[in-house]
Amino acid sequence: MKSEILFEEGSHKWVVLGRDPDKRDEVIDTNEFIVINDGQAVLLDPGGIDIFPQVLTEMTRYVSTDQIRAIVASHQDPDIASSLAMWTDLCANMKVYCSWIWTGFISHFGMGTNLVLNPIPDEGMELQIGDTNANLYLVPAHYCHSSGNFSTYDPIADILFSGDIGGALVPADSPLFVDDFERHIKYMEKFHVRWFSSNVALKAWVKRIRAINPGMICPQHGSIFRGEQVPKLLDWLDNLDVGKWDAGAELTDINKTQWMKWKKR
Ligand SMILES: [Fe+2]
Ligand SMILES: [Fe+2]
Repeated sequence: MKSEILFEEGSHKWVVLGRDPDKRDEVIDTNEFIVINDGQAVLLDPGGIDIFPQVLTEMTRYVSTDQIRAIVASHQDPDIASSLAMWTDLCANMKVYCSWIWTGFISHFGMGTNLVLNPIPDEGMELQIGDTNANLYLVPAHYCHSSGNFSTYDPIADILFSGDIGGALVPADSPLFVDDFERHIKYMEKFHVRWFSSNVALKAWVKRIRAINPGMICPQHGSIFRGEQVPKLLDWLDNLDVGKWDAGAELTDINKTQWMKWKKR
C-alpha cells in the first residue's frame, strides 16, 4: 500500500493511504486518511477487513496503534467499517464514531470484540483530536450516498474528507491529485449516478461545502481535488442528475419485466 503526506505544519499532519498494488482485483480500491495533531491521531474511514493488514502496516510508518484516539466511519459500508473489530482489538485508547442511525448495524462487524460505537447526531458535531486543542468538524452529508453520512472538515489543514462524494473508480496508475477535471469525469460519473439517489441532498451538501470553501477535498475512492479543482468538483456535483440505473427506462414497461413473467407462470 502507498502513502503520501498531504499536509504538514508544526505537529499537524494529514496522510493518505491507498493505491494498494497487492489488493485483490475484486476489492474496490479505497483511500484511508490519518489526521495527526501533537502525536495523537484520528483515522477516517479505516477500510475493509480484506485490506486491514496493508493499512495497519502502512499506518505504523506514521503513528502507532496507541496514538489512535478516534476512528470516524463516514457511513456503514463494508469498505469503510468492516475492519472495526481489528482496530478495536489493537487500539486501547480509541473511540469509534458513526451516524446514530448506523450504530446497531455496524455493531454486526463486532466479531466478539468490545466494539462500542459513539453516535453522531444528524446535525454533526465537533470532534477533538485526543486531548489536543485541535478539532475536526463532522459535517452532515446525509443521502450522499448513505442515509446517515458525514464529511469531516479540518480547519487547520483546510482539508475536507468527503467519503464517497467525489469518489472515482480510477485506473491504478492515475495521479493522486486530479489534474484534468474533464478527463476525470468519466471515472466519477457512473459511480455518482448509480450510488447516489437524491439530487436535493447532493445540492444541499454542495451548498454546505461552498460555505466552508475547503482548499482540498479528499474522497474515499480515487483522486484528490485541490486548488482550482475544488470549485470544479462542486459545480459538477451541483448540476449532476443522480438516482438512475441502466435498466430504469425499460422497467417502466411493466409487461417486459422479468418479475412480472415470473408472476404469470
Ligand atoms: Fe459507500
Ligand atoms: Fe466507498
